[in-house]
Amino acid sequence: MCGIIIYKSKYGSTRKYAEWLKEATGFEMAEADKIKIGEALKYDTIIFGGGIYAGGIAGISFLKKNIGMLKGKKIVAFCCGASPFDADFMKALKERNLSGELAGVPLYYCRGGCDIANMHFADKTLCKMLVKAVAKKDPAQREVWETALVDASASACDWTDKSYIGPILEECKTA
Ligand SMILES: Cc1cc2nc3c(=O)[nH]c(=O)nc-3n(C[C@H](O)[C@H](O)[C@H](O)COP(=O)(O)O)c2cc1C
Repeated sequence: MCGIIIYKSKYGSTRKYAEWLKEATGFEMAEADKIKIGEALKYDTIIFGGGIYAGGIAGISFLKKNIGMLKGKKIVAFCCGASPFDADFMKALKERNLSGELAGVPLYYCRGGCDIANMHFADKTLCKMLVKAVAKKDPAQREVWETALVDASASACDWTDKSYIGPILEECKTA
């Protein structure tokens, strides 16, 4: 079986998972913004991964745009966020990002990291504003990722863990 891991990563967490998946499968690896659909069509299995930004999965437009041409391929998606795993959060992510023709694509979660001090200016400003706003909220009313953001505001957090790729590898084995 030949496959490719197509990913979009801004701060490196999704890329780290893509590299672990490459190591485990021997698949090729390519950035979602750079790969041409003709290249992706050479592979039987496509693993797609993207970081989560304000509830959207980065690079998902690659699948949205090309799903028609990818019919018959095994497609597995994963997303990488600061939030701890949460079933409701995943359900909402799936509904928002994998609707319509993408509804059948399985979506897995790999926890990433959060290093506010080393973010680009716009992201840093936004995260600092969010932290201030979230800090005022009753902890019981916070979204799971909001709690993670507050936790990460004190110091850089890296929650990446190779074990998250296990279910993705299992999914790739199913027809
Ligand atoms: C502006 C901004 C918005 C974010 N929104 C979310 C979010 O909605 N949910 C979440 O779990 N993490 C969110 N994060 C955290 C990122 O998903 C996390 O840092 C992830 O590891 C990024 O993956 P990457 O390094 O591959 O880009 C956000 C981070 C930034 C900077």
